[in-house]
Amino acid sequence: MANLRVEIAGLSFRNPILPGAGPQVDNGEKLAAVARNGAGGLVTRTIGFLPAPEADSYKVVRGGYLSRPMWSSLSAEQWAGQELPLARRAADEAGIPLIVSVGYNAAEVEQLLPGLRDYADGIELATHFLRPNSAPMRDPLAVVREVSQLPSHFLAHDTQPLVEAVQAAKGAFAGPVWVKLSPWGQEEVLRVAQAAVSAGADALVATDLLGPTLAIDIERATSLFSDDVYGWLSGTSLRPTALRVVFDLARMFPTMPVIGSGGVARPDDAVEMLMAGASAVQMTTEALRRGPRWYGRLAQQLSGWLDKHDKADIAAIRGQAVCLWQTLLPHTVSTPPLYKKEACIGCKLCELSCHYHAIWMEGMVATLEPDLCFGCGLCVVRCPTDALTMPRVQRDGVVVNPRNGEPLRFWTLGLPAE
Ligand SMILES: Cc1cc2nc3c(=O)[nH]c(=O)nc-3n(C[C@H](O)[C@H](O)[C@H](O)COP(=O)(O)O)c2cc1C
Ligand code: SF4
Ligand code: SF4
Repeated sequence: MANLRVEIAGLSFRNPILPGAGPQVDNGEKLAAVARNGAGGLVTRTIGFLPAPEADSYKVVRGGYLSRPMWSSLSAEQWAGQELPLARRAADEAGIPLIVSVGYNAAEVEQLLPGLRDYADGIELATHFLRPNSAPMRDPLAVVREVSQLPSHFLAHDTQPLVEAVQAAKGAFAGPVWVKLSPWGQEEVLRVAQAAVSAGADALVATDLLGPTLAIDIERATSLFSDDVYGWLSGTSLRPTALRVVFDLARMFPTMPVIGSGGVARPDDAVEMLMAGASAVQMTTEALRRGPRWYGRLAQQLSGWLDKHDKADIAAIRGQAVCLWQTLLPHTVSTPPLYKKEACIGCKLCELSCHYHAIWMEGMVATLEPDLCFGCGLCVVRCPTDALTMPRVQRDGVVVNPRNGEPLRFWTLGLPAE
């Protein structure tokens, strides 16, 4: 059986399948159930300076949930007196670390941690309700209203509240501090991540929910959330975006552990996240749908996947796609695909997918006009056989454009292109 154990910022997890901060881990009993059911470690619901003013609300949409997530509705005192001792015992019995999620502003984190830190192996800093205003929250409902008025990625333009919160957590807690990021645009995420890393973060969690997003109840012609209008997306529809964030972070911060979160539901999803550079994954929505058993089940299935692929250790796949991309995959290859007539079944999918009319069928044979082709590769990914492939021409170890022999430039996101 493959070794699933992973090390993240000095902590050892029995497998890389962790809960994400959410309703399925919002008290000690639920955390104990997650531990009993095979998760690699525990992460609590976010504990705020004051309890959340109302419960989360959800709507089910195709491919996920839209929700209006809050933080824990239990007080910090109840967590310290009752829930965390229970969770600590469960973590110790299972031999797994306990990460305590706290929020939000520096002053709140500073005051919260002394009561909670003795139970924690690590802290996860939630950022969803972080505000420019540095005063500790007095009225949670006012905080929710204030945050709903802020531009969704205000943090990318004003990283100071985050920097202060990370410094406050590092000052009040001796162990590792993970920082959770939202799935914004590439530039915004990297700017916020850079601020977190510079302030002393030990790991990054990517991502939180995506939002604001919208769904319309077409019978009533209103938002599914009526007056509140927007919801925040989680579940499988979030996965490609979360995966991109993980991938970008893994390339930008190669020595920083990244924990992938967003749409992990099946073992392949976890494999994808790990190949994109994650050290572990968190799962929330799918566990809300299927119950705590899904953590252990996923870990078992992941182990089966590794065995089937002759990988003795989970470490063998971590970042595999990042390495591959760095050595092989050019962002744009303006070169026409190669065609293997004997593999073609005449399905016409290439003709249907080419928006440049560069490939069409003549009887059962695909015909390609190279001068019309932009090398977008859409026909290649739609081709159900390997009749179409993209050429990869290497000269002296460098991938070159077969048309002119020029080295292909790699898209390096903030790093020099050469
Ligand atoms: C109802 C709900 C409540 C959540 N509450 C929190 C929270 O308190 N703190 C936090 O950091 N993330 C919270 N999240 C975000 C999840 O931890 C996770 O990042 C997100 O849902 C994406 O993962 P998933 O697709 O596996 O659900 C919440 C998500 C949902 C759906
Ligand atoms: S690579 Fe793109 S442009 Fe070229 S034939 Fe295929 S779909 Fe058309
Ligand atoms: S998509 Fe592939 S198999 Fe189908 S017609 Fe085109 S080349 Fe042939």
